[in-house]
Amino acid sequence: MKKDILTLLDLRLEDCERLFPRALQLKRRHDKGVSESALAGRTLGLLFDKASTRTRLAFSAAMSKMGGTSLFIQSGETQMSRNEPLRDTARVMSRYLDMIAIRTYSQEWVERFAGYTDIPVINALTDSFHPTQVLSDLMTVVEKKGDFKGLKYAWVGDGNNMANSWINAAAVMGLDLFLSCPEGYTPDAGILETAKAAAVNPEGIRLVSDPREAVADADVVNTDVWAGMGQEEKLEGRKRIFAPYQLNAELMQHARADAIVLHCLPAHRGEEITDDVLEGPSSVVWDQAENKMHMAKAILEALIEG
Ligand code: CP
Ligand code: NVA
Repeated sequence: MKKDILTLLDLRLEDCERLFPRALQLKRRHDKGVSESALAGRTLGLLFDKASTRTRLAFSAAMSKMGGTSLFIQSGETQMSRNEPLRDTARVMSRYLDMIAIRTYSQEWVERFAGYTDIPVINALTDSFHPTQVLSDLMTVVEKKGDFKGLKYAWVGDGNNMANSWINAAAVMGLDLFLSCPEGYTPDAGILETAKAAAVNPEGIRLVSDPREAVADADVVNTDVWAGMGQEEKLEGRKRIFAPYQLNAELMQHARADAIVLHCLPAHRGEEITDDVLEGPSSVVWDQAENKMHMAKAILEALIEG
């Protein structure tokens, strides 16, 4: 596997086909109390600029459950806050760490960081992408549906970092993905174009204006917040525009009866998703959240194995 996961386009279909069963196997072994040691003696750095509950804890717990260690590094507490250059920081950090997961604003910053290190770099969310989230989301699909293939995937809401990573996943894995986002909030045209150019099945990635068309007979229905981290002040202005894209019981009636609902969390009940859908029988969000840790173990192990 390629040494970095900066976007899902860094992975091949074969990588994903190895990661899903391995993550599910690690979950079963965890449930049986089997202890793991594949990452003994290894250290993961978690360099974060933005808030996190799940990703930080999932990667940190994954490291310790695999026999390794993690170090949480708040960017503002490093010498970067006093203008030490990125390239110096990246080179020094890679002398101490075996892998690093970075959560920040700029995708380009993470890519430049990766260019200065020879350790694996994992994108733990940028404004543009959230690749490891979508890997664990697809692991959850495999867990619930038996396979990730042959399903209809719907995305409703903002064409944000999560939507972009679903587009990349669709490109790499040949998914049938319908996205419905308000006008002006569709995924970045350049990201879409790059993904389609790399796609196994470019026609499988479709933008539709009506959220009911996206959700019609879908097996997997997915949404995310209307204003992500760093966009909080834009939320009020967006509520009216995004209202027709709310994932609620009425919209879910268009999906297959056995459809599952995904949300990467944190969720804003009454905004992008209603409480009855989030807490209802189709929702698999708590297993989805747990699966971040098992997928993190599989990712870290694969990156170390090279
Ligand atoms: N889903 C997700 O990335 O959650 P956190 O922001 O809590 O890490
Ligand atoms: N789109 C959200 C995802 C949070 C996990 C954000 O960027 O804030």
